[in-house]
Amino acid sequence: MSMGKLWGGRFSEQTDTLVEQLNASVSFDKRLYRHDILGSIAHAIMLGTQGIISQEERKTITTGLAELLDEIEAGRFEWRIDREDVHMNVEAALADHIGAAAGKLHTARSRNDQVALDVRLWLRDRIVETAGQITAVQTALLYLANGSQTVLMPGYTHLQRAQPIVAAHHFLAYFEMFERDCSRFLDGLQRTNVMPLGSGALAGTPFPIDRGLVRKLLRFDGITRNSLDAVSDRDFVLEFMSAAAITQMHLSRLAEELVLWMTNEFAFIKLPDGFCTGSSIMPQKKNPDIPELIRGKAGRVYGDLMALLTTMKGLPLAYNKDMQEDKEPLFDAADTVLSCLTIAARMLERAEIQPEKMRRAIDEGFLTATDLADALAATGLPFREAHHVVGKVVAYCVDRNMELNDLSPDELTNLTGQDGSALIPWLDPVSSVRRRDVPGGPAPIRVAAALDDAAQRLSVRQQHLDQLRSAFDLDHLLLQARL
Ligand code: ARG
Repeated sequence: MSMGKLWGGRFSEQTDTLVEQLNASVSFDKRLYRHDILGSIAHAIMLGTQGIISQEERKTITTGLAELLDEIEAGRFEWRIDREDVHMNVEAALADHIGAAAGKLHTARSRNDQVALDVRLWLRDRIVETAGQITAVQTALLYLANGSQTVLMPGYTHLQRAQPIVAAHHFLAYFEMFERDCSRFLDGLQRTNVMPLGSGALAGTPFPIDRGLVRKLLRFDGITRNSLDAVSDRDFVLEFMSAAAITQMHLSRLAEELVLWMTNEFAFIKLPDGFCTGSSIMPQKKNPDIPELIRGKAGRVYGDLMALLTTMKGLPLAYNKDMQEDKEPLFDAADTVLSCLTIAARMLERAEIQPEKMRRAIDEGFLTATDLADALAATGLPFREAHHVVGKVVAYCVDRNMELNDLSPDELTNLTGQDGSALIPWLDPVSSVRRRDVPGGPAPIRVAAALDDAAQRLSVRQQHLDQLRSAFDLDHLLLQARL
């Protein structure tokens, strides 16, 4: 019955069952329970401190809330769809538990600022957790890079062999992508970690609340500046999902390379059996299903982002129920990217690169043709002309089914008009890589420096994440709740 609902005062008719189902969000927002309860404890402490409720009422309420948390975590809590969402389930259960005093908890608060609070609290924890798993992926990439500093392999453009690089340089490229991802998540944290309570339904509250105290208790960096904006803003959710979509895109590109590298055609890497599956008909198969799934899940994370962008685009100020549709895409994107990162880290830690296969892939495909052109250009020939001359050299080799290394000094002399024997050393892939000694380049000395720098950045990040974890730990509130 609507009359039985927390908002049932003005209603005289029962809620239609289908309406109840469509309206209810408890099936998916119940996972906010911990942050909801902690937020309520902070709110009640503030109400007590301000004399808006008595200290006795405060204590009854916060003790009751702490007990509900225990009940939920012990699996003894009954979530009721007729109580609509996580907020009203907790509040109604509190009333069942402590009686009339529960009715005072919602003083100077609305579900509109409450849900904004809960999602912000939940998300800041999730940002730190996600950044932690990105760090794990980067640690695995660094491990692979450390072990492959001298492993030559072709670098590709257009998926065609292009120039020699070392495998470490390739892994470090992914390290940089995930570095940017991590900084995107942490940058979004600045706009997430802001306290909206006190905004009420849309227009604040007449009670003499202390928003600064609630901010401090919940360890937010600041408070929101406009009550209308505070209850209708989901930008921080969209930012998180954008960062998730880009991260998932990077994971997908990495996964695509693993799929390719696992083929017999490449055979650059072996993935542990535990991350592959077999075929139900072809006994010989070892399929890269896990990288394929990571690649495939990019589509759904993009979809989650598009869903919420679309939901938000036409909403007038301030809160609209449409915004309840933020949670499922948020949770889906957050869970998907977190699990893919976790699995990717474990898979990479145990991946075995095949240095011999990588090295052999350099032998065919004229990978040092650019070096030969550079050698000619170094003698003073304009690079464009040098490029043309080497094009002819390559055509000569193609006609004769030879590689550049098969050319004799005399042939080189004839083809280039320069001293062929002086050009021969330029064709060596090892010295090709060594010569690329520019900042950000693949020369071993640069790669070694990049590895040090990457390790340094990871350790600074680890410390930063540890600080955030302890800053966001709200266990102190649970102690205070029972005092
Ligand atoms: N379950 C709602 C949500 O997720 C909470 C806020 C509801 N507010 C309201 N006035 N109906 O957005």
